Amino acid sequence: MGHSLTEASALDADVELGGTDQFPTIESIVHGARRAMRRDSWDYVSGGVSGETTLRRNRQAFERIGFRPRLLRDIGERTTSRQVLGARLRVPIMFAPVGSIGEYHPRGMGAVAEVAEEAGTLAFVSTAAHPGLPAVRERVGGPLAFQLYARGDRNWILERVRIAEEAGCVAICVTADAPVLGLRQRNLRNGFDFNLKPYQHERAQFDFQEHFTWKDFEWLRSITALPLAVKGVTCADDVIMARELGAEIVYASNHGGRQLDDLPSTIELLPELVDASGGLEVIVDSGFVHGADVVKAIAMGARGVLIGKLMVWALAAGGKAGLHRALAILHHEMLTVMALIGVASLDELGPQHLRTIEPSSRSDWVGFLPPTGGE
Ligand SMILES: Cc1cc2nc3c(=O)[nH]c(=O)nc-3n(C[C@H](O)[C@H](O)[C@H](O)COP(=O)(O)O)c2cc1C
Repeated sequence: MGHSLTEASALDADVELGGTDQFPTIESIVHGARRAMRRDSWDYVSGGVSGETTLRRNRQAFERIGFRPRLLRDIGERTTSRQVLGARLRVPIMFAPVGSIGEYHPRGMGAVAEVAEEAGTLAFVSTAAHPGLPAVRERVGGPLAFQLYARGDRNWILERVRIAEEAGCVAICVTADAPVLGLRQRNLRNGFDFNLKPYQHERAQFDFQEHFTWKDFEWLRSITALPLAVKGVTCADDVIMARELGAEIVYASNHGGRQLDDLPSTIELLPELVDASGGLEVIVDSGFVHGADVVKAIAMGARGVLIGKLMVWALAAGGKAGLHRALAILHHEMLTVMALIGVASLDELGPQHLRTIEPSSRSDWVGFLPPTGGE
């Protein structure tokens, strides 16, 4: 692949889809989403559970991780290109599975998958996404992963596994941190029923995976050759379990603060999880909104990161062009931070580039978002 300076301009060219200069920064994209979205929908997407401590910690924890730059290195030819889940990505920032994605763009998951393909990254297609995986695959040739919610019996799961295989997915990702739905206070306050509309057909099967255990995961391992990821991992015990039962990928996540409150941020947990991974690929989400965040996670051993809320905000604010724009900003931020800490490629990054620092005094959760989403 040709990289260096051309890498930035290739992505920037993708962004020339028009109408995006209104979004010079990630902050402006988030504010654009707030303006574009109905209050209840904004709260559903942007909120956390209970006291929203996990949600806030996901951002605050990044402030405790500082850089240790090395000076006077040749950083003239920088690249963010990387192999993740067997696919060569131009930038290792993937799109997390979002079940309600059909609500934020007329072509929903199709639009997200197109952006992923055009920008050289990978999209996870939720079990509940609209349109579903087969229709998405008809539109795009780029790498896709299928996210499985075990919302039915083994036959029901088997059908979905076969669909993922037929679609040539690079992996099946089992979401394990949602045996029941978390306590979403904002939805209660707003009387928001997130299960209406296009993915209603999934509702019939909405017996969240209360009975799905590692035994079922073992069974899943036995019926497919596709690489398996376990999503929602926050402790080393589960990394070891996933490894022993034949998973290839550990997906560290606290569901963006949407499931259990009072969890550490995933970035704090990353060293423990990477240590236990024994060579499995570790990918991570929850709280990523800047290129520097991504660089930190990779320096701590993550193979790649995913964005959930930011993907939705960008799509809601500016459609496909908005999402391209968000990725281009993150990519530019990554290349800049890499230059300033003295690395030309992501493989050069390691714990030697990080140090623990005192957080700055900011206490809001994304740095620029009012905690309740504003009025
Ligand atoms: C609106 C919304 C819907 C989501 N739907 C799903 C889903 O269907 N399956 C799943 O595994 N995770 C789902 N998630 C969680 C994301 O995949 C991801 O773990 C989380 O958003 C990452 O944190 P971030 O939002 O801070 O980037 C959803 C997240 C949001 C914001």
